[in-house]
Amino acid sequence: MARKIIIDTDPGKDDAAAILLALGAPEELEVLSLVAVAGNVPLARTEGNARRLLELAGRADIPVYPGCARPLVRSVITAEHVHGETGLVGLVLPEPRVPAQAAHGVDHLIGTLRAAAPGEITLCLLGPATNLAMALVKAPEIARGIAEVVWMAGARSEGGNVTPASEYNVHADPEAAAVLLESGLKLTLLPLDLTHQLRMTAPRLERLRRIDTAAARAVATLFSEPDGTPHHEREEEGAPLHDPCVIAFLLRPELFAGRFINVAVETASPLALGMTVADWFGVTGRPANATWLNAVVDQEGFFGLLLERLARLP
Ligand code: BDR
Ligand code: CA
Repeated sequence: MARKIIIDTDPGKDDAAAILLALGAPEELEVLSLVAVAGNVPLARTEGNARRLLELAGRADIPVYPGCARPLVRSVITAEHVHGETGLVGLVLPEPRVPAQAAHGVDHLIGTLRAAAPGEITLCLLGPATNLAMALVKAPEIARGIAEVVWMAGARSEGGNVTPASEYNVHADPEAAAVLLESGLKLTLLPLDLTHQLRMTAPRLERLRRIDTAAARAVATLFSEPDGTPHHEREEEGAPLHDPCVIAFLLRPELFAGRFINVAVETASPLALGMTVADWFGVTGRPANATWLNAVVDQEGFFGLLLERLARLP
């Protein structure tokens, strides 16, 4: 039976690749809904992009719920320099035909998780954790319906991509990250330490371009644009495939390896705001709360999976 997932997302070019990868795996994953969050671009764009991507993949039946328009405490920090003004840099998609749901994304999470059987639903987080944190604060009992949370977030050995200390999804809403890390939920984190190892290299882009589906063409277009990720020494290696790692982990967890450790987040220091303090060596004595994936076991397995599933879509 397919695993039931909700994808919380801020599309976002790598979010787009992740959503399409999930839609290309209907035997394994039943995508119940997409919840949009303000992140890479403002909420109006992220929720519209979520609908555009579903329609591109012929899945307008999946509802999109607009969630929080700003982080819990702070102002929105966007990333147009990486994802373009629209969030889907270089890719022009028609206005979506199906409207967004009227219900708020946080209320959708609460309603769906309350009604779920124990451990029925897996949450895939591809952006700041604002919506889930808000839902957990409002209705802590929803934890019962959650199987696990898999989140592209954090950085340890790799350093940050927004500041030297912090990765975007955590930096953008560090208080939400703190709620999640302290929630007691089963949590897997896919940090920059991992995602910077998986890049859209020129040969990979060539392979992607040979796949004749709208979904593959869309991802190829998004990753053909110059990447504004602040890692100039590696620009020739191509843009990192951050968010698709979350879906790939659900489909083939053996592609990755890591360790169950304590992870805390810095929410006070201006210098290190959003830093994930990952206790890799267990020096703090604090109890483990997250599986931190830092190693790619099979590069080709990951990329082959992405290509194979994009080839299955329209
Ligand atoms: C994360 O930040 C966003 O810009 C990407 O979509 C990804 O989720 C990487 O730090
Ligand atoms: Ca994202």
